[in-house]
Amino acid sequence: MDARAEALRTIAAALATPGKGVLAADESTGTIGKRLATIGVENTLEQRVALRELLFDAPNCAAALSGVILYDETLRSTGKGGATFVEMLRANGTIPGIKVDAGVVPLPGSPEETATAGLDGLDERCKEYYDLGARFAKWRAVLKIDEARGFPSALAVAENANALARYATICQRNGLVPIVEPEILMDGAHDIETCLRVTRRVLDAVFSALRLHGAQMDGMILKPNMVTAGSAHPSANGGDDVVAEMTLRALRDVVPPAVPGILFLSGGQTEEQATERLRLMNRSSIPRAPWTLSFSYGRALQASCLKAWGGKAENVPAAQAAFFARCKANSEASIRP
Ligand code: 13P
Repeated sequence: MDARAEALRTIAAALATPGKGVLAADESTGTIGKRLATIGVENTLEQRVALRELLFDAPNCAAALSGVILYDETLRSTGKGGATFVEMLRANGTIPGIKVDAGVVPLPGSPEETATAGLDGLDERCKEYYDLGARFAKWRAVLKIDEARGFPSALAVAENANALARYATICQRNGLVPIVEPEILMDGAHDIETCLRVTRRVLDAVFSALRLHGAQMDGMILKPNMVTAGSAHPSANGGDDVVAEMTLRALRDVVPPAVPGILFLSGGQTEEQATERLRLMNRSSIPRAPWTLSFSYGRALQASCLKAWGGKAENVPAAQAAFFARCKANSEASIRP
């Protein structure tokens, strides 16, 4: 194995350390604005930095976090103590990562579906991010289920799989481990069987594209949705054991054993659901490849922390305690007994 392939393998294995997961703190300025609005906090640079600092500085949380995904602004930001966020994370043994996609745009051939922008200039940005200290990256593709309209269309599946594979190989050429995230949204009234079928179909297309592009499977991380009924389906909130089983069935049919880690997104599940379903997957007797199954949550790690903080400096210790509670519970859930 050449040195670059070996370095990617080492980083991917570290991200997939059992008992650890990734914090997705890579909300774009617009998305973090929506989160801050829910707690009545203005979307200023100062408040964004304060929120990220309280997360990165939270006592004891680093033991549960192999990596943190940052947004461009955050990767370049400095905390109150004068250290950059990248330096703060590294000092705690946490690997800094970077969101490199530029969000979704309408897919011209099926304009109610989306493609993800950001391939233009990606090679150069990866070089810069590596120099700034990032060692992994994230690209989110978004697919939606609408059976009446035939979504996801064959076009949306093929285009998003191809873009994920191009992104992955561009990252790997530049020494960044790609987190490959094909998110199938929970929106809709579909049943869990439909989500299982679509998840298999999407993951199958993604891994076919990754192979076609020559991606290094042991130098990447998969970040999928869990297999759930649509959020408007009557059983949307039931059956954590069913979600765990269906998710494992989707993954074991399609994900190569060489992939070291499958780190789930939370996608609108509650904090407790995201933890419990992960825990059940790691306790399941369904035979599967030895991937680490862990978390790369955004909302399911930050929701109660944000509420406890409310944008006030005096609430930082309570907010950090809430964040620690989620880190600890998810860390325990990511261990296979
Ligand atoms: P959620 O866990 O809130 O879905 O966010 C994860 C993520 O990184 C989405 O791209």
